Amino acid sequence: MPDIRIAPSLLAADFSRLGEEVRAIEQGGADWLHLDIMDGHFVPNISFGPGLIKALRPHSRMPFDVHLMIAPADPYLAAFAEAGADLISLHPEAGPHLHRSLQTIRALGKKAGVVLNPGTPVEVLAHVMDLVDLILVMSVNPGFGGQSFLSGQLSKIATLRRMIDATGREIALQVDGGVTAKTAPDCIAAGADVLVAGTAVFGAPDYAAAITALKGGR
Ligand code: DX5
Ligand code: ZN
Repeated sequence: MPDIRIAPSLLAADFSRLGEEVRAIEQGGADWLHLDIMDGHFVPNISFGPGLIKALRPHSRMPFDVHLMIAPADPYLAAFAEAGADLISLHPEAGPHLHRSLQTIRALGKKAGVVLNPGTPVEVLAHVMDLVDLILVMSVNPGFGGQSFLSGQLSKIATLRRMIDATGREIALQVDGGVTAKTAPDCIAAGADVLVAGTAVFGAPDYAAAITALKGGR
């Protein structure tokens, strides 16, 4: 079984002490920092932008995993790259030219990801598999932390695991939304190897214990 990486979502952190929160999860064994960017248009919530990412960059060595829930995304890709993103993921619904957006992210020297909403079929990926480093399956409708896991997405994860393995390339398979110590084992069994968790990490009294529990106690 592959190593499972945990990417805590900053959305659930204490916004009054973000630097401290990021250092705490890194010390607690987090692998990536997941940064949810919301524009109040593509999703019904507003979070933060590249300025915050730039301010946090010196506080951590973790890869910064930027999940764009903005439309259009293309005009802002360079700003997120310059701010310190290592991976930049976007939704196919955010613009008319998914292939070009992925090319742009790669030309900026960053890893590129595609995010599938619960209602978005895997077929959208068929002709961009060679351009993706990451596929993110949303197991809630995007916009808010603390929602319940949609178990109907597990079969999508399993299908994507087969599609990724067929490429022979290294593509991370990430799941985001309602991931807890209870739902994580099903995600891992279906083939996910990166788990995003907001509430299950930042809402826990002990971040290290919460991260270990998400990894299945390993
Ligand atoms: C939802 C975000 C998630 C969210 C996860 O739109 O993409 O990353 O913060 O939060 P939890 O883990 O609390 O469901
Ligand atoms: Zn996210």
